[in-house]
Amino acid sequence: MQICYYPGEPNLMANELVNVTHHGDVLVATVNNPPVNALSPGVPEGIEAAVVAARANSSVKAVVIIGGGRTFVAGADIKELEQAAAGHGSAPKLHGLLEQIEDCAQPVVMAIHGTALGGGLEVAMAGHYRVAVPGAQLGQPEVNLGIIPGAEGTQRLPRLVGLAAAVDLCVSGKAIKAEEALALGLVDRIIEGDLLAGALAFAREMAEKGGPHPKTRELSRKLGSPTENAGIVAAGREQARKTRRNLIAPLAAIDALEAAVALPFDEGCRKEREIITELLGTDQCRALIHAFFAERAVSKIPGLPKDLPPIPVRQAAIVGAGTMGGGIAMAMANAGIPVLLKDSDQAALDRGVSAIRKNYEGSVKKGRFSQDVMDQRMALIHPQLTSAGFEAADLVIEAVFENLALKKQIFTELDRVMKPGAVLATNTSTLDIDAIAGATSRPDMVIGLHFFSPAHVMRLLEIVRGRNTSPQVIATALSLAKTLRKVGVLVGNCWGFVGNRMMLPYMREAQFLAEEGAAPQQVDQALYDWGMAMGIFAVDDMGGIDVQWRVRQEHPEPAGLRSPLVLNQLYQMGRLGQKTGAGWYRYDENRRALPDPEVTALIRETAAKNGIPQRTISEAEIIERCIYVMINEGARILDEGIALRASDIDTVYLAGYGFPAYHGGPMWYADTVGLAKIYRRIEEFHNQHGPHWEPAPLLRRLAAEGGTFASLDAEKAREERVAAN
Ligand code: NAI
Repeated sequence: MQICYYPGEPNLMANELVNVTHHGDVLVATVNNPPVNALSPGVPEGIEAAVVAARANSSVKAVVIIGGGRTFVAGADIKELEQAAAGHGSAPKLHGLLEQIEDCAQPVVMAIHGTALGGGLEVAMAGHYRVAVPGAQLGQPEVNLGIIPGAEGTQRLPRLVGLAAAVDLCVSGKAIKAEEALALGLVDRIIEGDLLAGALAFAREMAEKGGPHPKTRELSRKLGSPTENAGIVAAGREQARKTRRNLIAPLAAIDALEAAVALPFDEGCRKEREIITELLGTDQCRALIHAFFAERAVSKIPGLPKDLPPIPVRQAAIVGAGTMGGGIAMAMANAGIPVLLKDSDQAALDRGVSAIRKNYEGSVKKGRFSQDVMDQRMALIHPQLTSAGFEAADLVIEAVFENLALKKQIFTELDRVMKPGAVLATNTSTLDIDAIAGATSRPDMVIGLHFFSPAHVMRLLEIVRGRNTSPQVIATALSLAKTLRKVGVLVGNCWGFVGNRMMLPYMREAQFLAEEGAAPQQVDQALYDWGMAMGIFAVDDMGGIDVQWRVRQEHPEPAGLRSPLVLNQLYQMGRLGQKTGAGWYRYDENRRALPDPEVTALIRETAAKNGIPQRTISEAEIIERCIYVMINEGARILDEGIALRASDIDTVYLAGYGFPAYHGGPMWYADTVGLAKIYRRIEEFHNQHGPHWEPAPLLRRLAAEGGTFASLDAEKAREERVAAN
């Protein structure tokens, strides 16, 4: 029976978000705020009302707080955080609720399934006891949004698990499983079987045992000595600088944790509040929150009916068992989808399968999964030299060499063998989807599925819509991305789509900088320090100088525009990058990149021969030229409708190109710098370096109007909402 309990105080009413039921002498408060029971307005109030009611009712012997649906409270309401970060309101304050829970004379048991993350875990830690189902996940991921646990989490967590584990959890932001949480002391009992029944039994057991029940804020056993703590804090800071490069929040979390072990609880809480208030206004926090919402926005496709059912992919096929085909086969097998993997060449097929096996063996060795899991996955991949069985596949992905004539020929063949209704996809990274679709009698079923290397690891999937691609095929691609646990971003058909189209001018500009006097390692260092996962010359060497060279052959600069000069020479010298041990860098036996005087000399010689004056180039100019050139291209991409939103371009760069999330992606970063400033610099570069720097019309317009890419996105979203209603 469900009874809503109204204790009479209007601001403390149990509500539709939190149901209160009585199971004998145990009061159960169930949070019902789908999909993830976030702490939206009303939820803390509802829980507090339930606890207040229990405290006032002597027939209630214990309290259980549990999540309805698929999870416990999974975290804060990030919309609220976004508002606070934008300066409207503050982070939700849970102090009153946490105190009510902790001061309750009856035992309060938190019953956890699904996830207890962020604010969810902070609420759970105020309970006297926590029980969880096996595999439930607990964590403080706030640093990933540029903040720290701000509802006393940094003060309670070390009291439960000790400082070292608390530093690890708050700095990494990772979630741990209930079993590990039990070992750490964050969970008191694992409940096999029905969670509510187990939690009720546990609550009665604790009530029977009698109070006082442990208040986390009063625990001190695990707080450690000042000397021990100083060592942990120092090691934590070093770790944070290494693993969370350039991020403010992880270091700030350690400051708050340090306060927890050094100060009384209330003073520590004050310190925590000061720190989170400061962090909420930072560019990093705003950028990370933007990145969070940008990733969720990609599945909103204007004009695509929400109820359009995707085609179920029960059997997949792949043509080409090379780097990409093998990786895609693994991505499919990892998601439990059987896949036929065809290559035209026995040796290539054998190489492909052996690369897959090696990869899986590595994972088993590292303990990521068991041998059994590996065997199951290998069994889902069927290597073959023919198209046998393709007729039963729901989806085929072509991943042969990047050659239009070859791809057309393959698609003509696929059109012949695949059943009607099957999706025909290509993994091309630059070629024209419409030209490929034109080789079939069913261009509506053709789509680009551009995976990134290694395809079983990289999260980005660019979904390239051709002129005739049907809405259902788009819906299928988006749904497949989810099944493969990837971020599917729908983009339009043009050379290089979104990601590689912006990459080309970025690479070109970096090479121009080198020709003007900045060494490749100087350019790379500046980009790395700014936050890119890798420098661009190192990326070039990893992807292969030959690959770049071929791209430039097939997609030369428009007539009259200067091309970078040194790349061709590296190609001709056979310096193809990591695979030949030398490219822009020299590589030692551990694949470490070493600056190469031979390359420096080559660049200087080339510059001299071509009359390129040499000068000292600042880090600031390197960043401006490399990043602004991408932004300028991004503005064109947006203007042409190749990307649906500026935030989609950001997601492409965050999920696929190692762009630092704390800058929010190239378009968000442009907004934070200010479009007028960026436009002015681009004009200057245009005057100094010529037509490559022609400012994008959209950028010019927004700069003149004082607009931002974010406001343009918001305006479009409003129009779409109006059109949909
Ligand atoms: P790869 O050279 O490693 O593999 C291509 C495979 O296709 C080879 O095993 C070859 O034997 C096979 N093949 C060639 N003709 C065939 C035919 N007629 N029938 C069956 N198999 C045939 O190439 P990679 O790097 O895997 O690239 C494949 C595609 O993916 C290209 O279109 C490329 O542009 C694209 N791509 C590559 C990325 C990368 O980082 N390598 C990233 C994203 C897309």
